Parts: sequence; structure tokens; C-alpha cells
Amino acid sequence: PIGDADRGAALFQRQCSACHQIGPEAINRVGPRLTGLFGRRAGSVEGFDYSKSMARMGSDGLVWTMQTLDAYIENPKVLVSATRMRFRGLQDEQARSDLIAFLREWSDR
Ligand code: HEM
Repeated sequence: PIGDADRGAALFQRQCSACHQIGPEAINRVGPRLTGLFGRRAGSVEGFDYSKSMARMGSDGLVWTMQTLDAYIENPKVLVSATRMRFRGLQDEQARSDLIAFLREWSDR
């Protein structure tokens, strides 16, 4: 489905902003800053202490794209088995597309 970035912004507020910031001023909190995600290697934000599992997926070549983000948001532990992200996952496919459209607005690629 085609994502709606405005709906995605509202979802981000409700589901992600307790742990993540996004935008030019974003800093690492409970989770890493999510600015510039697309095309970036997983586990590579400077100064954030990732789980071993996420760090390893990054060295093994996991890069954040539409597909990999969709899988991680749907069920974090299926993609990154021992991820430290305490988020149950979003089952609704449209909601994931909306969120990804919003995340993409803060990426150059
Ligand atoms: C990691 C997205 C909700 C805590 C990540 C990463 C993404 C992401 C893409 C990997 C970033 C990277 O590789 O640099 C999201 C989205 C959320 C969400 C879209 C909402 C739908 C949350 C919540 C929490 C959280 C609610 C806290 C309860 C974390 C932590 C990590 C992380 C601790 C690092 C994981 C690790 O090192 O294994 N998140 N997240 N996230 N997130 Fe979230």
C-alpha cells in the first residue's frame, strides 16, 4: 500500500516518540536518532550503544530500506533476534507504510 506521511507522523508520535527522535535536531534517547535512516547500515549511529544483535546485523550487511524497515517494524525480533528495542510490532500493513513514508521524509535517499 502507498504510505501517507501525515498519518505516519501521528503514528510516530504515538508509537515511537517515547524512545526516538527524528529531524535535524534529533538526539539519541532510549533509541537512536532516526534521521537519515534510508540507505544507512543498521546499528551505525555514532554514540549509540546498540545490542550485540543489531551491531552484528549491521556488520553482516543489513541496510535500512523500505523492505527491511517494514520487516523490523512488523516484528523487531524476527529480523534482529536479540534486539534491545522493546516494541511489540505493528501488524497493520497500511500503518507500517504510513510510518515508513514519514521516516522517509527525514532521509536524503
Ligand atoms: C532501534 C524504529 C519504537 C527503542 C530502532 C531502529 C529503527 C527503529 C529503524 C534501528 C536504528 C538503527 O539501526 O540505527 C522504530 C520505530 C518505532 C520504534 C519506527 C515505532 C513504530 C521504539 C520504542 C522503543 C524503541 C517504543 C522503546 C521502548 C529502540 C532501541 C533501539 C531501536 C533501544 C536499538 C535496538 C538494538 O540495539 O537492538 N528503532 N522504533 N523503539 N529502537 Fe526503535
